[in-house]
Formats: sequence, C-alpha cells, structure tokens
Amino acid sequence: MQRMIEIDSPFFIPPERLPLPAGWPAVFGNDRPLVMEIGCGIGDFIARTAADHPDRNFIAIDYYNKGCDSTCRRLGRHALTNVRVARIEARQFMAEHLPKEGLAAIYINCPDPWPKKRHRKRRLVNRQFVEYAGTYLAPGGDFYFATDFDDYGRDVAAFMQAVPGFVNCLAPDAYRHEMPDYHLSKYMQKFMAEGKSIYFIHYRKV
Ligand SMILES: C[S@@+](CC[C@H](N)C(=O)[O-])C[C@H]1O[C@@H](n2cnc3c(N)ncnc32)[C@H](O)[C@@H]1O
Repeated sequence: MQRMIEIDSPFFIPPERLPLPAGWPAVFGNDRPLVMEIGCGIGDFIARTAADHPDRNFIAIDYYNKGCDSTCRRLGRHALTNVRVARIEARQFMAEHLPKEGLAAIYINCPDPWPKKRHRKRRLVNRQFVEYAGTYLAPGGDFYFATDFDDYGRDVAAFMQAVPGFVNCLAPDAYRHEMPDYHLSKYMQKFMAEGKSIYFIHYRKV
C-alpha cells in the first residue's frame, strides 16, 4: 500500500486538475512540443533532459506517489519551468489527457521487468502497448526505451522491428549498450554499478 503524501508543488498537477487533451498549451503557457516520460521514478532523468531542451514541454508521470513528490522537489531545485508531474497510470493518462499525434517523444526508462516468467504479461511495454502509444506520437516523434533486463531488452528490440510505421534510429543495431547523449537514470546507474548492461532502443515514427 502506498503512503499518500500530499504533494504541494507548482510542478504537480493533481488528478482532478489534469487537462483535457487540448489543454496543454494553457498549462505551460505556450505550445512548444510536448514530451512524456512514463515511470519517472525520482525525476533525475527528466530534470536533466528537460534542462537540455528548454524549447520543449515535458510531462513526467508515475503512479508512485513518493516518486512524484521527489520529482517535484528535484525540479524545484533545478528551477525548471518546462516540466509538469502527474501521478497516474500511463495508459489512462494517454487515453484521457493526451491528444492523438500530440507528442514529440516518449521516454520509458527501466520499467518494472517482472522477471518471473509467469508475470511477464504484466510488463508495460509489449507490441500492443507500442502500437497504442504510437498513436499519441506525432510523425517524426521519438520512442525511447531502456532496460537493464536482458530478456526485456531483446524482446522489445525484436518486436519493434515488426511494428509498422516506425524506423530504427540505431540501425543496423537493434539496440545499443551505450547512448552518449542520453542521461542515465537512478536505476540505470544502479544496474550499471552492479555490472549490468543497459539496453537502449530508439525508434522514430514515420
Ligand atoms: C523501476 S522504476 C524506474 C524509475 C526510473 N525510470 C529510473 O529509471 O530510475 C519504474 C517506475 O515506473 C513506474 N510505473 C510502472 N508502470 C507504470 C505505469 N503503467 N504507469 C505509470 N508509472 C508506472 C513505477 O511506479 C516506478 O516508479
């Protein structure tokens, strides 16, 4: 059971104040391209990535309340203005709050791997999910996925080749273990310190 912390932060949008799909320019006060990170954890990746791209608006979502709180605190320390945080499940968020073809990029870093074979169907990222999430990417929009889990990385790399309407930005590699311009999240750093390799996958919607 999650301990529910009251999040009182200008970065946080409580569930009842999340906008309708067309409402994001009013939230940010401009209509810059919109980017989403699913499962932002403590927000270290989004803080660095948003700082690199002041010309884009970022929505960091996680259904982990404490993670949303940590993310908001971190964003405050970095004095960023182009990020908002929401505590919500990813598919519900897309369906209720995002315009179709409205995103310039989707980032998913180290999603829960569900390592036991009988639990694998609980994984967030599978072909059906990517086809659905892809409907929220604008043409030219980027899909980034990273995991430390060999089986998850190979599985996503394999099915992505067959998802229509996407090109592999890392071709001829199906995945890479290094992405020099990509910030490392807390979990990536933890797993790398344990000697594990990260699988980075990057596709673009055509
Ligand atoms: C293993 S953590 C990784 C956190 C961070 N991305 C990192 O790399 O450090 C996975 C995060 O994804 C969140 N998460 C998993 N499935 C989700 C979903 N369907 N919708 C929203 N958040 C989700 C979890 O609450 C958790 O905070």
